[in-house]
Amino acid sequence: MKIKLVSLILASIALNSSLFAEPSFQKCVACHGANGEKVALGKSKIIKDMTKADFVAALKGYQAGTYGGPMKGVMAGQVKGLTDAQMEAQATFLGLK
Ligand code: HEC
Repeated sequence: MKIKLVSLILASIALNSSLFAEPSFQKCVACHGANGEKVALGKSKIIKDMTKADFVAALKGYQAGTYGGPMKGVMAGQVKGLTDAQMEAQATFLGLK
């Protein structure tokens, strides 16, 4: 029980600090805005309005080449090497539910 409690506390600290800075999102800011509020290059959805599930699925789809519109090539380069944990952290940073 104690261990569970400790890891719960650690997890919430990690979640809270990612609200202030998510390093892996910094390279997304130019196109998507500091808080994911922009339509990137006039094409993308407003990512802060996506659900967490859709956001992560989109990123994984860009990695796998199974998701995207006419400009998916742009995103394929962006998501290269992004880990599941970083995707989760980005979703949390953007406040996605
Ligand atoms: C050079 C500009 C650019 C950068 C940098 C960029 N994106 Fe994108 N993003 C786009 C464009 C353009 C699209 C729409 C692509 C398409 O046609 O599918 C898009 C789409 C997306 C989508 C899916 C939304 C949709 O329209 O379906 C997500 C999620 C996303 N980007 C997240 C990110 C994340 C996270 C990063 C940083 C790791 C990032 N982007 C970096 C331009 C960019």
